Amino acid sequence: MKERLQQLQEEALSELRQAQDLKELQDVRVQVLGKKGSLTEVMKGMRDLSSDQRPLIGSLVNTLKNLFEDSFASRQLELQQQDIAAKLASEKIDVTLPGRRAMSGSLHPVTLVTDEVNEIFSRLGFAVAEGPEIEQDFYNFEALNIPKDHPARDMQDTFYISDDRVLRTHTSPVQIRTMLKHEPPIRIIAPGTVYRRDSDITHSPMFHQVEGFLVDEKVTFGDLKGILTHFLNEFFGDGHAVRFRPSFFPFTEPSAEVDIECVICGGDGCRVCGKTGWLEILGCGMIDPAVFDSVNYDADKFSGFAFGMGLERMAMLKYGVNDLRLFFENDLRFLKQF
Ligand code: PHE
Repeated sequence: MKERLQQLQEEALSELRQAQDLKELQDVRVQVLGKKGSLTEVMKGMRDLSSDQRPLIGSLVNTLKNLFEDSFASRQLELQQQDIAAKLASEKIDVTLPGRRAMSGSLHPVTLVTDEVNEIFSRLGFAVAEGPEIEQDFYNFEALNIPKDHPARDMQDTFYISDDRVLRTHTSPVQIRTMLKHEPPIRIIAPGTVYRRDSDITHSPMFHQVEGFLVDEKVTFGDLKGILTHFLNEFFGDGHAVRFRPSFFPFTEPSAEVDIECVICGGDGCRVCGKTGWLEILGCGMIDPAVFDSVNYDADKFSGFAFGMGLERMAMLKYGVNDLRLFFENDLRFLKQF
């Protein structure tokens, strides 16, 4: 029996030493002291011993049990400390490393241009207005003196949602919506998204315009020229000549198209201006009396002007961007430059 205990002690202590983690260590404990553990079996067998053997063996068993418990505790402590040390090593933070810079976004060039146009006109007393992108035929066409058989209505150009609803093809319907709600005098600037069935290098089916209009007593074409010339000088910088060319829009009479001396070549002629030295920038005119009729303004008492321009085109000229599609691809390498 003594020998059996001696052997058991050697085995148990060596197993404890070999345990590589707390789980293995716990397994050793179960092997020795668990319900069917080797030492437990020995203790169970004590019943069969004679009474003169029992005290001696009993004390040996106790000594072994205590020794095992002590060794277990110290090996446990050792393994716990190993665990902590490993954790500390793997979770170490180098506080001297430089931090990562947070990415900051930037405004889209079309947004930048919209903001700038709004700002310039705000300084001239214009207020910003908006309208819906899904528009009724009445506001987009009819009230703007574009009757049902007018070529501007051609199915080629307009996205129809139903007979009577379209994706607005320009920001001019905001003129009608505003005038139906407010009496003159009014000065409004109306930026927004517009849609046309057009898609190539210089046309996108979705693009942005800004509309401007002013109605009051005794407004003249001279006021229109003055305001737009001032605006273009503010936007592109002083020193570019501006010219007004006769044109036609159903909702203005007389109508004009405005050109600015090419901001790329200074008027010498280049690829951007098609060697003409001039860039077409916007359409404008004096609001047609027929439009005043449809919003119940007294055309004898009031007069006004309106203008509209494409914001992508303004952005292309201002920032020297040569492909319209860049504005809609959302490539960060492009957008980050503004
Ligand atoms: N709505 C016209 C267009 O989209 C532009 C315009 C607006 C012309 C106001 C004259 C007056 O082409």
